[in-house]
Amino acid sequence: MSYSISEEKIEEITGLTDIVDIIGEHLSLKKTGANYIALCPFHKEKTPSFSVSPDKQIYHCFGCGESGDAISFLMKYDNLDFLEAVEHLADRAGVLLDMSKEKVKPDNDFLKVNYKINREAAIFFHKNLMNSPNAIKYFENRGIQKKAQKYFGLGYIPNQWHDLLNHLKKLGFEEKEIEETGLAIKSENKGNYYDRFRNRIIFPIFDLKKRVIGFGGRVLDDTLPKYINSPDSIIFNKGRNLYNLNNARNYTDKGIILTEGYMDVIKLTINGYNNVVASLGTALTDNQVKLMKKYSREFYISYDSDNAGLKAAIKAVNVLKSHDLNSKVIIFPEKMDPDDFVTKYGGARFNDRLNKALEYFDYLDYYLNLTHDTRQDKGKLGYIKEINLYLQHVKNAVEKELYIEKISQKLGISKESILLEFKNNQRKAFNRTPDSIKKLDMAGQNASDYELDLIEILTNNHEMTKYIKNKYDTSVFYSTKNRSRFYAILNDLSKEHTDEQGTYKRMDLTQDELKKVVDDYIKKIKTDQLIKIKSEIKTKLLTEPENTQFKEQISEIDKEILRLRGHHNG
Ligand code: UTP
Ligand code: MN
Repeated sequence: MSYSISEEKIEEITGLTDIVDIIGEHLSLKKTGANYIALCPFHKEKTPSFSVSPDKQIYHCFGCGESGDAISFLMKYDNLDFLEAVEHLADRAGVLLDMSKEKVKPDNDFLKVNYKINREAAIFFHKNLMNSPNAIKYFENRGIQKKAQKYFGLGYIPNQWHDLLNHLKKLGFEEKEIEETGLAIKSENKGNYYDRFRNRIIFPIFDLKKRVIGFGGRVLDDTLPKYINSPDSIIFNKGRNLYNLNNARNYTDKGIILTEGYMDVIKLTINGYNNVVASLGTALTDNQVKLMKKYSREFYISYDSDNAGLKAAIKAVNVLKSHDLNSKVIIFPEKMDPDDFVTKYGGARFNDRLNKALEYFDYLDYYLNLTHDTRQDKGKLGYIKEINLYLQHVKNAVEKELYIEKISQKLGISKESILLEFKNNQRKAFNRTPDSIKKLDMAGQNASDYELDLIEILTNNHEMTKYIKNKYDTSVFYSTKNRSRFYAILNDLSKEHTDEQGTYKRMDLTQDELKKVVDDYIKKIKTDQLIKIKSEIKTKLLTEPENTQFKEQISEIDKEILRLRGHHNG
């Protein structure tokens, strides 16, 4: 293989790259000793066996055997060829590549066919539109003239079953290949193929390399479903793409405007906003945020102002916040969507809305006021409970403090009480064991060794005992023996005596550090308990291998163990 990038260049690039960063952008990595582990993205698994070594700058999966370096990870994970992966890393590292030399094209024929078919289909749909007065009229009635039809490569397919199929077959593509792209469907009983998109206007979806990866199709009237989309395939993944990012990324000096639909993107563009994308009708995903944050750190959420849209906006601002990104929310009157609004009021008025968009906290407040009457006690409680869920996404302690101050002033409740209530809710969330597992919880005859260790820490340590009592109550201990030991210690709380910290005092731990130790012990105890329950179920499964309930319970337990080990922060 001959690549136009020299070995030295590749070494320079990989030298500036940390594999932990690269993989960390895609997987949730957990540090264990010198390495990091994660659930392997290349095979299905429930306990992590995918390991990343910062020292050796390689990854290895003990489950499926996949291994390699940052470049091969990207090739495999993002479906890139060697050169594309290197380009990506060079971009990140700020290394300039001399691209004047001949480029090596992706050699994956299979993928190439998919893109080719999609491109031919997009051209076919577009030509069809130009010859279909009814479809042109539909667009024009919605304010979308020829120029925009061209810019977005819009199309149309009449009400036939094989128009596109026949066209693509004439070009030499096979039915099987066309089916792979999702453009054709194979009928189950007859085994013949027919077009997925029929009698619809068509929106082609492009990736950042301007390849056509999928389509959306809308009916011209009120028939349902309103839209159908290409199914996810090897080249199309809705959660990993954004409609129109290929264009919008060139206009991001004033941030990115996020909308829900194709029409919103097109109509805002016509009205002078080129920095608009749509999340293709799905809730905003982490991967979409990662895609966008390369181009901007300023976001406007411009969703439909109906109930569903307002709720989706809450989700979106929080997903962005969890990436430490700020966003503002644009609100429209009368449950309009951005398209409705610019159609009725024009682009200048949209600019007013944009300037009045609500900041993160103000939007949370706006949204919560819709469902909680904070003049009443019940409303105040509900407000606090719900806003606590959202504020979990705020990582900056100062920022969070500012918000709690605002809540305190708004509700006339002290900051301390609000914080206490937040903690109480968190405690409940931690103690929440899925019901299906709770039922299995068996008195813990042979409890985890960690229980005794924890008892030892608590003996003669008032602070820690109080800490546990407030944060976890007695559900911490599974063995009845240890539980009564704990009660005895609790009893002791009322008596006067000095705090010793035993071993931990000698280890010079501060109270805060000791709290972390205690938290860890409690997690270990819970995990041990779950592992025990799991092995009992596994034993039962031996005699009833087809019992799906057992299998479900095991997967619930695995999820819970992962959660305790900190793989999911949600
Ligand atoms: P909307 O129902 O808000 O449609 O769905 P819209 O974009 O405003 O379109 P018009 O104005 O009614 O023509 C928002 C997006 O959700 C996805 C589409 O991507 C749509 O643009 N969607 C919606 C579907 O995928 N399927 C559906 O049935 C509906
Ligand atoms: Mn609309």
